[in-house]
Amino acid sequence: MKMKSFSFFFILLIQLISSFFFVNSQSDSCSNNLSNLKGISFDTTSLTCFDLWTRHDYVLRYSKTGSDLWSFLLSAPNTKNYIAIGFSEKGKMIGSSAMVGWIGNNNIGIAKQYFLAEKRTNAVRPDQGNLTLVKNSETVITQNSRLYLAFQLKTEQPQPSTNIIYAIGPDSLLPSSQFQLSQHLDMGNTLINYQTGQAKVVSAPYTRLRRGHGSLNMIGWGLCLLIGAMVARYLREKDPLWFYLHACIQVVGFILGVSGIITGLVLEDVLSASVDRHKTIGIFVLIFGCLQVIAFLARPKVDSKYRFYWNIYHWTVGRTMIILAAANVFYGLKLADEHKGWTAGYAVALSILIVTAIGLEIRMRLKK
Ligand code: HEM
Ligand SMILES: *[C@@H]1O[C@H](CO)[C@@H](O)[C@H](O)[C@H]1NC(C)=O
Ligand SMILES: *[C@@H]1O[C@H](CO)[C@@H](O)[C@H](O)[C@H]1NC(C)=O
Repeated sequence: MKMKSFSFFFILLIQLISSFFFVNSQSDSCSNNLSNLKGISFDTTSLTCFDLWTRHDYVLRYSKTGSDLWSFLLSAPNTKNYIAIGFSEKGKMIGSSAMVGWIGNNNIGIAKQYFLAEKRTNAVRPDQGNLTLVKNSETVITQNSRLYLAFQLKTEQPQPSTNIIYAIGPDSLLPSSQFQLSQHLDMGNTLINYQTGQAKVVSAPYTRLRRGHGSLNMIGWGLCLLIGAMVARYLREKDPLWFYLHACIQVVGFILGVSGIITGLVLEDVLSASVDRHKTIGIFVLIFGCLQVIAFLARPKVDSKYRFYWNIYHWTVGRTMIILAAANVFYGLKLADEHKGWTAGYAVALSILIVTAIGLEIRMRLKK
């Protein structure tokens, strides 16, 4: 009976977490074929597609439509900010030309070229720039809570610049009546190979801080907790070794994890990132971590009549925390720009641990 209600609890928890992440009406991915997209002057169903900027869920589609004609379609969540994509010689903002789109008054989509002469509001000039747009090809439309910024370029070179810059405007501060932009909330730069559709992030700002944040949390919350829990469960015969190992690993994990959360708060600040869900889950993990430390210090004696209830409590909080932490590591990696190798690495490490745990669990039950 006890076992059953526990599994029920965890199934519920996992469902809750997955619905939180995956039922997202604002999603667009490269597997969507966009055959329902109306109001764009060119064919949007056979474009090359890639995730341009994961942190803000920008998806870019493009194709060479004629000998000197290129079509672009940028899709982003409709969050009432302007979205921008520019073509740059060296990945710098200054001297580039960009297409900027937003939904203005009366729900009318506005798409405009800007010349980014300097990093000042007055020097980012509307209706100027070096992109040769096909007349009336630039549009912004909304569909399913996404913004679509479409435009076509004529190029003298064989292809447009491979250095793509992008930005997102500040929250609820759309360009004024003179079309003046405000400084972006966040920006980035990616190199793209138009032939293969492969993209490489060049300068995601604060790379070291982001890697530090990722590895601290991944090792601290994402791996140590699980290893520590496994030690406590499967090394029980070796008393008191299991106890010291368990306490040590969890304390190390906790310290790494707390450092990871602190770097996360710094990162949120310097990137002006809006990562509320990721942060909320992180804070829950932290609270659970503190609860576990307090519970550990206040644990009843082994022969106390409360010990049984304490064990259930410690066990439940611990496992909830492990699941939340692992989910949040994956979620954080999804928010990062260069995440594929890391995600694979973490998934492999986690799988090895889980398979080991299953093996040890079976061995333990057979022994009993
Ligand atoms: C009024 C509009 C804008 C203002 C005031 C502005 C201002 C700035 C400032 C102050 C920086 C340096 C920020 C830092 O290092 O933390 C910067 C960097 C950057 N901006 Fe903008 N920006 C504007 C529009 C845009 C647009 C529309 C784009 C892209 C389409 C863009 C792309 C970039 C990029 C890629 C960087 C980093 C690379 C670099 O420093 O050159 N900016 N901008
Ligand atoms: C695109 O998807 C729709 C349904 O969502 C389908 O009817 C259509 O055949 C698809 N088109 C292509 C070219 O795959
Ligand atoms: C690009 O456009 C800007 C503004 O329209 C202009 O001042 C600049 O001379 C142009 N640069 C080139 C290389 O055409």
